[in-house]
Amino acid sequence: MSWTDRQRSMLRAMGLAVWTPSIGEAEPEPGPPQALASEAAPIDVPPRSVAASPTMERPPRAAPREVEVIDLAGADAGGVASMDWPTLRAAVSACRACALCESRTQTVFGVGHPQADLMVVGEAPGEQEDLKGEPFVGPAGQLLDAMLQAIGLSRREGPPEQQVYIANTLKCRPPRNRNPEPAELAKCEPFLRRQLALVQPKVILAMGRFAVQQLLGSDEAVGRLRGRIHTYEGVPLVVTYHPAYLLRQPSDKAKAWEDLCLAASLL
Ligand code: URA
Repeated sequence: MSWTDRQRSMLRAMGLAVWTPSIGEAEPEPGPPQALASEAAPIDVPPRSVAASPTMERPPRAAPREVEVIDLAGADAGGVASMDWPTLRAAVSACRACALCESRTQTVFGVGHPQADLMVVGEAPGEQEDLKGEPFVGPAGQLLDAMLQAIGLSRREGPPEQQVYIANTLKCRPPRNRNPEPAELAKCEPFLRRQLALVQPKVILAMGRFAVQQLLGSDEAVGRLRGRIHTYEGVPLVVTYHPAYLLRQPSDKAKAWEDLCLAASLL
């Protein structure tokens, strides 16, 4: 693979070493940067050209309908499965199904292309996400954006092949960023399930153990599940480390990069 200057600088910004061939030295087989190759067999990921596709205009968003406060413990849980985007968004922002609604500033729904090829699933909003109403806007989000950008993907713009959709397992911030509780995950699950059904991604990237538990129903460690292709409702799913973990454990960034390349290779 030939890395563009932009990709090289992004990989450096992520803390990933970029191998540069010296003059006369052949470039290696396509795959992740050489510095990563010791971790696993290289994965062939064609660079995705951001400029190649025309910009797709997003369909105008219909005004959200008024939605009654939803208690997902009751019969309304079934209704979520047939909601369209505006109704789902409004239902999430009105949700009072668990105690997290008491401490949230606002719900954090999701961001990106509503028909994205790649859907990224994280854990739960943190402080900055709770304030802004958008997933992954803090330091972990900056790392995620840099990794996506390095392969020509973005949360902000582009056609479905280039603009991802990002959502969390929980739509409300757990107090003091504590771990999600099983009951909270269960109440919020229909929302994520419906987002996945509406986006209909070609590939899902599950980041961290709570996304993995929610989507695969597995308690196995991320480190044991990553590196292969799982499925969620027939959709290929790749497991990777959560970016917040990567900020604490930068030595695992190379593995996360491999996981992202594996996901991109399926697109
Ligand atoms: N961590 C997550 O899992 N999601 C966010 O939105 C922010 C941090």
